[in-house]
Amino acid sequence: MRVTMIGAGYVGLVSGACFADFGHHVTCVDKDAGRIAALRRGEIPIFEPGLVDLVATNIQQGRLEFSVEASGIGDADAVFIAVDTPSRRGDGHADLSYIYGAVREIAPLLSPTAIVITKSTVPVGTGDEIERILREERPDAETQVVSNPEFLREGAAIYDFKHPDRIVIGSDDERARAVLAEVYRPLYLNAAPILYVNRRTAEVIKYAANAFLATKITFINEIDDLCECVGPDVQDVARGMGFDNCIGAKFLHAGPGFGGSCLPKDTTALLKTAHDHGAQLRIVETVAAVNEQRKRAMPRKVVAALVGSIRGKTVAVLGLSFKPNTDDMRDSPSIPLITALHDLGATVRGYDPAAMEQAKPYLPDVIYCGYEAAEGADAVVIATEWEQFRALDLDRLRCLMVRPVIVDLRNIYRADEMKRANFRYLTVGRPAAERYAETAMPRRRKTPNAKTIAALAEAL
Ligand SMILES: NC(=O)c1ccc[n+]([C@@H]2O[C@H](COP(=O)([O-])OP(=O)(O)OC[C@H]3O[C@@H](n4cnc5c(N)ncnc54)[C@H](O)[C@@H]3O)[C@@H](O)[C@H]2O)c1
Repeated sequence: MRVTMIGAGYVGLVSGACFADFGHHVTCVDKDAGRIAALRRGEIPIFEPGLVDLVATNIQQGRLEFSVEASGIGDADAVFIAVDTPSRRGDGHADLSYIYGAVREIAPLLSPTAIVITKSTVPVGTGDEIERILREERPDAETQVVSNPEFLREGAAIYDFKHPDRIVIGSDDERARAVLAEVYRPLYLNAAPILYVNRRTAEVIKYAANAFLATKITFINEIDDLCECVGPDVQDVARGMGFDNCIGAKFLHAGPGFGGSCLPKDTTALLKTAHDHGAQLRIVETVAAVNEQRKRAMPRKVVAALVGSIRGKTVAVLGLSFKPNTDDMRDSPSIPLITALHDLGATVRGYDPAAMEQAKPYLPDVIYCGYEAAEGADAVVIATEWEQFRALDLDRLRCLMVRPVIVDLRNIYRADEMKRANFRYLTVGRPAAERYAETAMPRRRKTPNAKTIAALAEAL
């Protein structure tokens, strides 16, 4: 089949490359000329494990190409739209201008029988409006508009795309369903469940699923607040809940609040849709509010760990992206955390294995470091649970810091090992490890030199 993907971002590029890998001929179109030029040079503009090889293989085999112009889509059987739908400035509705812009651009170029498929996350009724635009622009065509929301998670996007829990196809049209069945045939053969529903149902499924995931994270974060008051380890509680098949272990990790490119904007957009239609989603409203409070509470943990004011102190933040294995900074919890630390007078040194460049526009005042971020720090905050941070050489780390204080917002260490290593260790929802006393450490502040940088590189 010939497939065109409009938008070559986190979703479009991964989906396009996977469709090519299924054997389809795919053209990814993006209006960002720099992005397309990079892709044509074989450079991948986003960090996603496995994507470099997947794209290279499919280019080599002549199944995947890139274009700034949609002009070549006349022979496409299926045209997917995977452009961004961010929060609209001012009111929080999904900004659909990129969607409608893309539809108007492709309308005159489509084959009369092409199927147009929305992969972007869009509010209920968006497919109806796309159809209206297409009927207006192309009265001659029999174009069908399908909703096919995407559920991949950044950091595991290729695996998720190729092993979906379900594929949702929103259309009542038999021909459109048959085209989509053909596009996804390799997954169907792998027994991935395909759910055929009408278009509006598919649109709501995506928002409802994301709101539910946001609720799950927020639920365990509130249980975490309780655990901090009454003693149990929230991770044990989450494990005890997660073994229940009716609950499931995923999205049940206490942390600094949900962030990223989907859950915050999608919960807000869902609430706006509900308000517009006079429906009340009180649970989702509460989830959004609790999550905001949660993010604001994280800097207080750093203040508590440093026993008082953090003015003039240096905090090293390890992990800036909203989750590991991605460079995506959109709505990352590290942004409000670091902004608050700056407001409180701290100097922030930051390190992320993949997201440093992406972080700079969001966090211009951070001192971006390599592995030497912890050098001279009064506290290290683990904000994202990258694998690289799971086995820090604690002895070396302690020697390089001014104070041995770690605030672990992802609970990736055990309190007893931190205690043994003589760290003050604060987590979320677990008792603090308290071996180090404020007076115990000599204050040492050095400028990093090549030797300490090398030592840190090893420690991290
Ligand atoms: N990122 C995720 O994990 C994820 C998961 C599921 C669903 N989604 C949804 O998928 C959609 C895309 O998200 P993303 O993260 O890939 O966004 P993104 O910002 O990474 O990519 C969007 C791309 O579309 C391009 N674009 C915009 N208008 C265009 C046009 N008219 N013609 C050609 N290209 C155009 C942009 O230049 C950009 O490269 C959103 O609706 C999002 O909510 C995202």
